[in-house]
Amino acid sequence: MSSTAKDWRAEPAPAWELPKIGNHPIPGHRYTSREFFAREFEHMWTKVWLLLGRESEMPNPGDWQMEEVGPESILMVRQEDGNIRAFYNVCQHRGNRLVFEPQGHVRRFICQYHGWAFMPDGSLNFAQDAEDFPDGNPCDNVRLKEIPCETFLGFVWVNMDPDAVPLKEYLGPVWDDLSMYPIQDWKRYQALTVNVPCNWKVIQDNFNESYHLKKVHPEASMMIEEGYKETQFDMCAEGHSRMIMHAGYPARSLEGKKMTPVLEAMMREWDLDPDEYRGREREVRPALQKKKRELGPQRGYHYFENLRDEQLTDFYHYTIFPNFAVSVTADGFHFLRQRPHPTDPERCVFDNWYYAADPPEDTRPVGTPAGPVERGTEVEHEVIEYLEKSVGFAIDQDLSITTGQQLGFRSRGFEGVYLAGQEARIRRYHEVIDEYLDGVRPHGRLNVRPRPVSPIR
Ligand code: FES
Ligand SMILES: [Fe+2]
Repeated sequence: MSSTAKDWRAEPAPAWELPKIGNHPIPGHRYTSREFFAREFEHMWTKVWLLLGRESEMPNPGDWQMEEVGPESILMVRQEDGNIRAFYNVCQHRGNRLVFEPQGHVRRFICQYHGWAFMPDGSLNFAQDAEDFPDGNPCDNVRLKEIPCETFLGFVWVNMDPDAVPLKEYLGPVWDDLSMYPIQDWKRYQALTVNVPCNWKVIQDNFNESYHLKKVHPEASMMIEEGYKETQFDMCAEGHSRMIMHAGYPARSLEGKKMTPVLEAMMREWDLDPDEYRGREREVRPALQKKKRELGPQRGYHYFENLRDEQLTDFYHYTIFPNFAVSVTADGFHFLRQRPHPTDPERCVFDNWYYAADPPEDTRPVGTPAGPVERGTEVEHEVIEYLEKSVGFAIDQDLSITTGQQLGFRSRGFEGVYLAGQEARIRRYHEVIDEYLDGVRPHGRLNVRPRPVSPIR
C-alpha cells in the first residue's frame, strides 16, 4: 500500500443505520408465562434462522447431527453432493422420533417402531408391507419433512419457515462483519452446555448490555472505566446488534492508569515490553495494533491483513437475533447461545463455547475464558446442570445474576424494566420479538412493513 493512500483499516467501523426504537413495556411475565412462551415458539422460533450444527462434525456423506430447539428436534445430514440438508427428526408413519443421539453416521435412518427406512436425502426407501396401504405405497408418497438449511462460518443454520429469506439477507450487516474472519477454520476449545433455571431471554438480555460489567465483573475494571462512553453501539433493521468496546484490554482510556497483568502478558506475547510504556499507557493500544500487523502473518495469522486496526485489539460483540451472542477478538470468539426448554418457560439450554484460530505456526496455549488450554485438539462437548461445575469465571458471574433475576420476574411487585440509554439494545430486541408475534418479519430491509398497533403487554 502506498504511504499516501488512505488505509481503510485505520478507520473505525462505520456505524450501522439505526432502526427506530419504541418504548414497549417489558414486564416480568414475558419471562415466566407459558402462554407467552407458546406464542413465542409458534410465531418467532419457527420463523428465524438458527445456528444449529457444526459442519466439522459431519465430514462425510451419511454423517448427521441432531439438535433440539424447544419441543422440536432437527436432523442435519451430509449429502452425497457435499451439501447439508435439514429435516424434522420425526418418522412420517406414526410420529416416532428417528434418532435420539446427538450425532452419528447412517446409510439409512431406520425407525425403531415399524422399520420404515429413510435415505439421507429424506426419501422413504423401505416400508414393511408396502402393498397394504390403501393410499398407495408409502415410498411413493412419503418423505421426511425438510426445512431450509444453509452453511456459514462452518456452522449449519436452519429455519423452520419454508418462506425464509436467504441467510445472508437475514443476517444483514453481520454477514459482512463475520466474513472478515476465517471462522470456519477455527477450533473449539471450550464446549459446555448448561441447563439453566431461567428463561432464555434473561441471558440474551444480559449479553445485550454492558451496564452490568462494573458491578458483576469488577475485576474487568480497566476494560469498563468510562466503558460505555468509549463503546460503539449499533443495531440493524434485521434485529441484530453490535457493540464495539474500544475500552477493551488495551483501553483507549488507559492514560494515567496501571496496566493489568492480562494486558502486560498480552504485550509480551507480541514482543512489547510493558516497562517501556509506563507513564504513556495510552500508546499501548496503537503499539499492539502495529505489532500484530507486523508479526501476525509470520505467526500464521494471515487474515489480520484484512482486519481493521481496532479489530486487532478491541472487543467486537454481536447479538444475532434471536438467541446467539458472540464476542469476537482478533484470534478467537466466545460463542454464547440460548435455546428454550421444550416445555418450561423458566428454563433454558445455554451453550458456552470458545473457538480460537489455530495456525500451525503458533504453539502458545489457547487463552479460553476458562483458562489456558493446550493447542491442537478440540475439547469434548459436555452437558451439565447449572452449578454442577464452573463454566468459566465471567459466565459464572453472569448466570448467578440471571437465575436470581428469573425469580424476581415472578413478582407482582415488579413493574417492568426501566432502561438506561446503553441498554437500548434490550428494548430493541424485545420489540423485534413483538414484531414476530404480530406477524411482521423485520429481516430484510425491503420486507419491513409498518407494525400494526399492539395491545400493551
Ligand atoms: S412410526 Fe416409524 S415406522 Fe412406524
Ligand atoms: Fe457479563
